[in-house]
Amino acid sequence: MQLTNARILLTGATGGLGEALARELARAGAQLLIAGRDVPKLAALSATLGAGSASVRADVTRPEGIAAIVGAAQEFNINLLINNAGIGAFGLYDEQNWPTIEQLIATNLAAPMQLTQALLPWLKSRPAAAIVNVGSTFGSVPFAGFVAYSATKAGLRGFSQSLRRELADSHIAVVHIAPRAIDTPLNTPEVNALNRDLKTASDSPADVARAIVTTLQKNGKERHIGFPERFFAWLNGVAPGLVDHGVAGKLPAIKRHASTTQKGRP
Ligand SMILES: NC(=O)c1ccc[n+]([C@@H]2O[C@H](COP(=O)([O-])OP(=O)(O)OC[C@H]3O[C@@H](n4cnc5c(N)ncnc54)[C@H](OP(=O)(O)O)[C@@H]3O)[C@@H](O)[C@H]2O)c1
Repeated sequence: MQLTNARILLTGATGGLGEALARELARAGAQLLIAGRDVPKLAALSATLGAGSASVRADVTRPEGIAAIVGAAQEFNINLLINNAGIGAFGLYDEQNWPTIEQLIATNLAAPMQLTQALLPWLKSRPAAAIVNVGSTFGSVPFAGFVAYSATKAGLRGFSQSLRRELADSHIAVVHIAPRAIDTPLNTPEVNALNRDLKTASDSPADVARAIVTTLQKNGKERHIGFPERFFAWLNGVAPGLVDHGVAGKLPAIKRHASTTQKGRP
């Protein structure tokens, strides 16, 4: 995929991975339309991305937010959509309140599906186009303590793969990226403590951004970032019982750390 002079809409650009990805894409020669809710952060990032960049303030879970992004994307003449905005929620499923779960589904799954559908006619009219969805290892290795989050990311993986198959006779590439843990504000202190306890590796946003850009430049369609996470994604597909067994061994630690998470907090 040609990134030099690509015109990219990036959601969640004000977050840990989004900001690093915006910088890496700009370094690769792309022009960026960055989306987020935090106006000062958007302005500060936009100022570092060069004269050709633009920004749009929008909440992806609201109809007016989707409309604002779609309008700005057409005006910016995008040919690449990156669905990166997302939220996390660590805790035992029966202790999470429904509004938290609804917000997870709205942000991590419904918003990328809606933005993609609204922009598909536009992308089809471009000579070269792509849709990139940022999922998670938990979309392929659904995890205890992250039940609702895993469900949204598994949904996003299914959406990406089915859409890729439906668009196989078009020029639109559909890419699904599954990072493992990243050092960003998405992870609460409880999640970071759990990761340390379980010896779960966590990547820097800059490393993940570089891996995503390399994947796009090499025309990759599916990328699991990190080993052994890539192996466990494969194992969960062929022998989920083995993964059930492995995660069961971690359950006491997951429950211990989840008990320190305030009920219902995203
Ligand atoms: N961090 C990890 O361990 C990890 C691992 C695997 C995958 N991922 C995925 O990577 C992506 C980026 O996450 P991150 O780690 O960079 O998290 P982050 O630092 O918390 O950033 C999340 C971004 O999403 C935006 N966002 C959240 N809700 C939104 C809404 N309703 N409307 C518009 N924007 C919204 C945030 O905007 P505001 O600034 O306005 O809040 C922020 O820009 C997510 O899809 C996440 O699931 C993260």
